[in-house]
Amino acid sequence: MTQQGDGTDGKGFDQAGHWRQRGDRYVAEIEASGGGFHDLLRQQEAEFADLLASLPLDGVRSVLEIGCGYGRMTPVILDALPNVERYVCMDISHGQAAAARAGLQEHPQSDRIGFVVSDVQSSTVQVKHDLVFAIEVLLHFPPEVVPGAVRSMQELAGSYFIHIDPYEAYKESPLVAIRGRLRELYRRLSGNQLTTDWLHPYLDLYDRGSMVEVTSHPVLEGRQHVFIVEQAVEESASEIGSGGSDE
Ligand SMILES: C[S@@+](CC[C@H](N)C(=O)[O-])C[C@H]1O[C@@H](n2cnc3c(N)ncnc32)[C@H](O)[C@@H]1O
Repeated sequence: MTQQGDGTDGKGFDQAGHWRQRGDRYVAEIEASGGGFHDLLRQQEAEFADLLASLPLDGVRSVLEIGCGYGRMTPVILDALPNVERYVCMDISHGQAAAARAGLQEHPQSDRIGFVVSDVQSSTVQVKHDLVFAIEVLLHFPPEVVPGAVRSMQELAGSYFIHIDPYEAYKESPLVAIRGRLRELYRRLSGNQLTTDWLHPYLDLYDRGSMVEVTSHPVLEGRQHVFIVEQAVEESASEIGSGGSDE
């Protein structure tokens, strides 16, 4: 299935720089957002927990969560994976990783959680993890770099790569295309980037060579999907590598 984004490109957008800085104010940003947005986050977490409980993930021992943010989804994932021995939270932002570390220090499995500050696009982490998650991360990569980012994430996954991103509900909407054209016009005229999130054609982006199967499940009434990419069977290690400064 081919899906088009909203047509806005990200030329000149410093994706890594934007998130390194924004990470310092992200928790405040979320706290300041309205109750409706908080309800959506809780709904997304509950739907994701139900989905994880229905998947055959008992064999998962090592997890890498890319773009962990302040650790919002980490307890949800840990609850669904009681046999995990090593859980690595990776984020490009020191501020986010520090907030995640602080928020998770009382978690009953905190002794299994490690923190890595690293840009997944240039990460030197080489050891695969049984399961790699990226929750609302890929939408923040401009179209030009998404194929490489998806490949990097997939390469780190020994068995599964699971991510949540906006997807289907916007697919047919003419408003999406109009919004994209307005953003593009603004960028051309002002030289500034107006958007920091995009829709991507995920199902077209996976490395078909190493992939066994991909499924997608609507969440938030279809506004987002959970993509589950099952990798070809391969040796997967459960030790972590270090891809950047360990917080
Ligand atoms: C919208 S937040 C989502 C955070 C968390 N997954 C959640 O659902 O609450 C996106 C996160 O991805 C991180 N991020 C953005 N670009 C990244 C990159 N190139 N490498 C690693 N993390 C990145 C950001 O710092 C931010 O914490």
